This record gives sequence, structure tokens and C-alpha cells, in this order.
Amino acid sequence: MSCPATIKQILRDHKDGMAMPREMYTSREVYDHDIASFWNRSWIWVGHICQLPEPGDYFLFDYGPESIIIVRDREGEIRAHLNVCRHRGSRVCVEQSGRARAFVCPYHAWTFELSGELRAGRAMGPDFDPGDYGLFPAQVRIFEGLIFVCASTDAPEIDAGLAQLAKLTAPFELANMKIAHQANYPVPANWKLAQENYLECYHCAPAHLDYARSHSLKNPADVEALMPALLDRAEAVGLPRETMSISSYEGGPVGADVYYRRYPLFEGYQTGSKSGAPLAPPLGRLTGHDGGATDIQVGLINFFLVYADHLVGYRFVPRGLQETDIQVVWMVRGDAEEGRDYDIDDLTWLWHVTTLDDERIIRHNQDGVNSHFFRPGPLAEMEWGIRHFYNGYLRMIGADRG
Ligand code: FES
Ligand code: FE
Repeated sequence: MSCPATIKQILRDHKDGMAMPREMYTSREVYDHDIASFWNRSWIWVGHICQLPEPGDYFLFDYGPESIIIVRDREGEIRAHLNVCRHRGSRVCVEQSGRARAFVCPYHAWTFELSGELRAGRAMGPDFDPGDYGLFPAQVRIFEGLIFVCASTDAPEIDAGLAQLAKLTAPFELANMKIAHQANYPVPANWKLAQENYLECYHCAPAHLDYARSHSLKNPADVEALMPALLDRAEAVGLPRETMSISSYEGGPVGADVYYRRYPLFEGYQTGSKSGAPLAPPLGRLTGHDGGATDIQVGLINFFLVYADHLVGYRFVPRGLQETDIQVVWMVRGDAEEGRDYDIDDLTWLWHVTTLDDERIIRHNQDGVNSHFFRPGPLAEMEWGIRHFYNGYLRMIGADRG
């Protein structure tokens, strides 16, 4: 997609290894272009098959001005449709989730099948062909039960990366999970600042005291020292002896990257809990807790942190130029029972307090970036994830440095 000249002008002095200029986080034109060129052409993790057990079950996923209906159709297929009526554009579905026999537009009652086809347009005359006016389809990929959608017809090819990832994640049996809790943390900041914060652990030591107590990622030397023992323990509980795997990471198709990395928790911590004790039964085929954490990234905007007994999914969803929803989803084994096998407050404690810290630092970041005195500074070595994001992002919006 071509990039408007005004945005290229904003980026004219941007250099690899530097933060991006102020206007990338303050300009309405950049935001609109982000939605059209980046979000509408990215694979987005929207949910899990456990949310759609029966035909007719649906939920909405909204970002920017867009809304997508994710539904299980009569044949049991999971499909996605743009939630925009083909008559005069109303939202067709206005409930966030539910079970439907068909989608009836609330404006003039055009009725769409679960498959997206228009069943009938009321009083449209003999020449009207409903076949021409089905809902626009979005693309769907299901990876181990995790549902990804892409609004564009030219979605990035992602299957090779997912196939590589599947070999590593198989023991977790991600398809066999359920959502224990979801929370939304609105932050008054541009989505890119929220996402950039997730992509680096340079801030972990000063900003996240609880996280820093148990997770070694804030200090590369600790990761290295603790890794050999983690790999032994991982193998003993049934996980692959693998520290990092990257597919199409540099130079591959934009938005198709898949990243997998394991890192150790400190001694005494078996999972991301306050006390270090397990929080839930081990996932999938695991025979116990190995005291490791697994970072998974699919494309440029989908993040998962998998412990031996739960998964935490992260999304940074644009709602406006400086309005972002940090959406956090906690998942456990499909057969785990609340009260018996896990406690919601214990399960969610770490990433609740950590996300509140993040909300605060991201908000202050946006406040500072809004100042006319902000000049982009150099990125630290530990901020390599942001550099990588910029490279992919700039290519997607059509403004890469060549
Ligand atoms: Fe949907 Fe008219 S806008 S039926
Ligand atoms: Fe953080």
C-alpha cells in the first residue's frame, strides 16, 4: 500500500536504531493509515475456539473503526465477516457475543446467513440479486484452537511459520484450553506506544518490581546462567529442548513472523505466581512445572506468554488516535475447574499488577511524546524488539527505508 507523502515527510530523518518521531503518535493521518495499511492487513488474534462451541455462536472483535463478526456456521466452520451491512452500512450485529440463527440488520432488516450470504433484502424489487450483497468475508486461521483473522484479501502468508511453531507448542495442547479471565485496561496513548512497551524488558527492572522478582528476562546474564538447568527440567516435564526459534524473522514476508523463546524463572518460582507455587494443573501433556516461561509472537501484534500451567495472551488494540485497549486473556487447561483447580485472584495477580504498572508508564510516555520538545532518542540494546517492530511496521505502511 502506498504511503502518503506527508507521512514519508514525517519519517524523513528517522534512522534505524532511533525512536520514531512525535507525529507518528500524534497525527490523525498516521493513525488512519495505520488502520488501513497495517491493522486491516495483519493477522489478529481474536479469541479461542472454546468461545464458539455450537453453530450460531459468535463474538465481535473491534479495532479502530472496524468490527469483525467471528461465528461458527451451520456446518461447524469458523468464519469471519466484516460487520458492515451491504445496504447502507449499518453494523449488522450489535451484541458483543451471543448465539444467532442469522444476522438481521437492525436498520432495514436485511437478513444474512451465518455464512455471510444475504438471505433476503426486504422489498428490493424483482431485479435485486441477494447473491451480490453478502457480508464481506475476513480470512480465518485456526492455530491450535487460537483464532486469527485478517480483514484483507491479501493477508500475509503465515502457514509456514505456524507449522514450525506447532512442533514446539504441541505439548501445551493449546486447543484444549479455556478462558479463565479476560480484562481490558484502557490507556490514553497511541497503540504503538503500548505495543512498544510490551516489546522491551529494558523497563522491567525499574517499573515492574513484582515481575522482576520472579522473571529473569530483565537481565540477559541471568537468563544465560539459569538456562541450562531450565532445559533439563523442561525436557523432564515433556517440553522440547529449545530456547529460541524464529521463522521468517528478518527479510521474510511482512507480518508472517513467528517467534518462540523460552526463559527461566528464578529459583523457587514454578510459574508466574506471587509465592512461586503452581497456579493450575499443568497444561496439555506436561507432567509437571519446569519453572520456565515461553514467549510466543505471531506476526507483529499477537503475543502469548505460556507458563507450565497457564497462558496469558496480550493485544494492544487501537480505539482512537490516543486511545488503546490493553486486552489481557488468562487461559488454563480445558478441564480445570475454578475453585478446585485454580483461583482467579491468584491466577491473574501478576499480570494484573504488571499491566497496571504498564498502563501508568505508557500514559506518561504519551504525555511526554505529545510535547513539542520531544526528540527521538537512541534505542538500547535491550530494545531490539522495538527495532524489529519498526522494520516490519514501516514496510507494512509503505514507508520502509528501502
Ligand atoms: Fe442494513 Fe439497511 S443498512 S438493512
Ligand atoms: Fe511492562
